[in-house]
Amino acid sequence: MSREWVEALHIISLVCWFAALFYLPRLFVYHATADDALSDERFKIMERKLYRGIATPAMIATIGFGLWLASFATEHYLAQGWFKTKLVLVALLIAYHFTCRQLMRQFQAGRNTRKHQFYRWFNEAPVLLLFGIVVMVVVKPY
Ligand code: HEM
Repeated sequence: MSREWVEALHIISLVCWFAALFYLPRLFVYHATADDALSDERFKIMERKLYRGIATPAMIATIGFGLWLASFATEHYLAQGWFKTKLVLVALLIAYHFTCRQLMRQFQAGRNTRKHQFYRWFNEAPVLLLFGIVVMVVVKPY
């Protein structure tokens, strides 16, 4: 597969990953305010399907195509400050992804104690990471 196809698939998969990482915490906001059993069950199903059906496969594809892209010029990329910073920000994004899993499991077990305000702030973190990662890889500031 050509480098251009790998980069296109890298960008398509990261868009899917971010769509899920923006929507899942939003579901947590509404789930934290739900006080009837029907809504609680509906949010559990929606969160589980979004996390397993979109977020996780998209994360694996983004990282897989990213590593494939890096393999075209590994030494060159590893010598770039912007690329190393990008990898640190991507590591934070992966940590955010698994924190979402932890929080989802607490909702699944009926053990969520956090209020909707917490999830509104929590929902902002991927925006900052997206900003940082895209600036690093497109602007390449250093
Ligand atoms: C381990 C994970 C990742 C690796 C190894 C990786 C690696 C790469 C590499 C080597 C390129 C080509 C850069 C160039 O030559 O200009 C690239 C492009 C790109 N990456 Fe990643 N990436 C990863 C994750 C991500 C994530 C999570 C995002 C989310 C925003 C992202 C956004 C982009 C974008 C927007 C481009 C296209 C840049 C352009 O065409 O100018 N990457 N990535």
